[in-house]
Amino acid sequence: MEHLALYRKYRPKTFEEVIGQDHITKTLANQVLAGKVAHAYLFTGTRGTGKTSIAKIFARAINCENTKTGSPCGECDACKRLASDNDVNIVEIDAASNNKVDDIRELREKVKFAPIGAKYKVYIIDEVHMLSDSAFNALLKTLEEPPKYVVFILATTEVHKLPQTILSRCVRFDFRLVSVSELTNHLARIFDKEGINYDHDALKIIASAGEGSVRDTLSIADCINAYSDGNVTKEKVLKVLGVTDYDLLIDFFDKMLKKDIGEVLTLINQIDLMGKNLSVFAKDISRHARDLLTAKTCKDPNKILNLPSELFEKFKKQADEADEKQLINFMQLFSSAESELRYALSTRLLLETTALSAIVGDAKKN
Ligand SMILES: Nc1ncnc2c1ncn2[C@@H]1O[C@H](COP(=O)(O)OP(=O)(O)OP(=O)(O)O)[C@@H](O)[C@H]1O
Ligand SMILES: [Mg+2]
Ligand SMILES: [Zn+2]
Repeated sequence: MEHLALYRKYRPKTFEEVIGQDHITKTLANQVLAGKVAHAYLFTGTRGTGKTSIAKIFARAINCENTKTGSPCGECDACKRLASDNDVNIVEIDAASNNKVDDIRELREKVKFAPIGAKYKVYIIDEVHMLSDSAFNALLKTLEEPPKYVVFILATTEVHKLPQTILSRCVRFDFRLVSVSELTNHLARIFDKEGINYDHDALKIIASAGEGSVRDTLSIADCINAYSDGNVTKEKVLKVLGVTDYDLLIDFFDKMLKKDIGEVLTLINQIDLMGKNLSVFAKDISRHARDLLTAKTCKDPNKILNLPSELFEKFKKQADEADEKQLINFMQLFSSAESELRYALSTRLLLETTALSAIVGDAKKN
């Protein structure tokens, strides 16, 4: 059987299933019940906190023929039709790859066509901050006078990049980071459904590693499940996350500092074979660079780092071998690689490229 990632399997279908965004789901459900639908919404907030999921629930809810709670009922004709991911009445546009003025002009032409077998046609424009200036202008014209059956939902992780003219025409909702305790409960419910054994501490560690993003939390849980054989313990989680695996980090760093390309590639191969999540590993590397920088430059570093003294000495020794510029460079390269790695197809290649450009970039400067 094909394995479906947890975050895809557990995409919420009703407002009630969404966690951590009550301030948004309640307001939207009330608008549905009152029939007070705006023409343009703006959803902003960190990755994986529910923007697209809520946009789709809302799109179905405003078309639902017998909603009781403000959520889509899932039973009526409209709900059934719109449940499909490629129904014509819910159009998802990725502004990152359709960011030109012509793309938006094309959209304006399409907007003229009425919904089919539904009351509203909903356009979800993801990553809307990626639009070019002229594309924003074109969009603005549509937002000013949309046909009455059209609803726009603009979603972005970077709201500060949107022009004021767009902001002022949208009803705005700010998505929150989801708390560790909500994420832990969510994981517990999912693990129960999946029949996976766990201890509570293990879930808490997974939840903290997700840093407020539900999708990241579920992706991490997936990796850990793959490794744990239906029994998720704190020890296994720590091992997979590499949270305490300082020796590996120190070793990897040593090889990077020595600019030993062969050894770096060998180690990445080993890490990959261990089944480690490479995005988490990139984050650990960037944190390790930060820790070394702290050890090197702060007055009382171990007050900040809080490491056992033996380990702190190891950090300090490694910090002495690196210079500040190098560490800053590593921090930057690996933290931007971290987010790319979450969605990359060829993760190992990306990690290798990052590590090698960190080494080579360094060599050039010297
Ligand atoms: N608030 C939430 N409640 C329950 N599940 C959630 C929530 N947010 C995200 N998820 C989970 O993460 C997956 C992805 O969420 P979604 O696509 O809605 O995030 P997003 O905010 O649009 O992210 P991005 O900024 O990357 O587009 C969902 O399928 C679901 O499993
Ligand atoms: Mg999204
Ligand atoms: Zn319905």
